[in-house]
Amino acid sequence: MHDMLIRKMTEADLDEVCVIEQETFSEPWSKDDFCKALRDINNGYLVAEVRDEIIGYCGYWGIAGEGNIYNMAVKKEYRRQCIGFYLLEHLIKEAVKGGISSFTLEVRSSNEAAIRLYERLGFQATAIRKDFYTKPKEDAVIMWLGPIQ
Ligand SMILES: CC(C)(COP(=O)(O)OP(=O)(O)OC[C@H]1O[C@@H](n2cnc3c(N)ncnc32)[C@H](O)[C@@H]1OP(=O)(O)O)[C@@H](O)C(=O)NCCC(=O)NCCS
Repeated sequence: MHDMLIRKMTEADLDEVCVIEQETFSEPWSKDDFCKALRDINNGYLVAEVRDEIIGYCGYWGIAGEGNIYNMAVKKEYRRQCIGFYLLEHLIKEAVKGGISSFTLEVRSSNEAAIRLYERLGFQATAIRKDFYTKPKEDAVIMWLGPIQ
């Protein structure tokens, strides 16, 4: 999508972000959860925007050289156009500049779209966490990327 912009998430984005969050997840983060995340200097959050509309976002929490990826979502009508890929690729590059070299995330074991996307970026499944998720109950696949030199 040639007119897509990827930029840092700000508090002014959160009403739009929370609409997508609520449409996407069974246990969505609140606006307050995002506000706290944005104010924590160990976090990095990005949005993808097209003509003033937020169409996706993702973020990480970094500690001791490791980045935990959270809140990866793309608006339904914009999926399968590589927006998730570009967002996460950009997030990883930014985090590496900030001294993060390894990345980890959890994903529902049935979430083929997300697992495929993470694999294309080089993530590998390393463990299963039994019944990690609720609503509905499901195993988590733990994935890791790195260390990136
Ligand atoms: C996961 C998600 C962020 C992917 O965003 P996206 O912009 O559609 O992703 P991309 O277009 O970059 O790539 C997705 C890849 O997954 C695959 N994929 C996409 N949708 C798929 C589906 N419904 N079933 C199987 N594979 C799918 C595609 O094969 C694509 O790879 P390809 O380009 O080789 O075909 C998006 O589907 C989403 O928001 N899902 C709901 C929230 C979610 O599950 N977040 C992750 C929580 S860990």
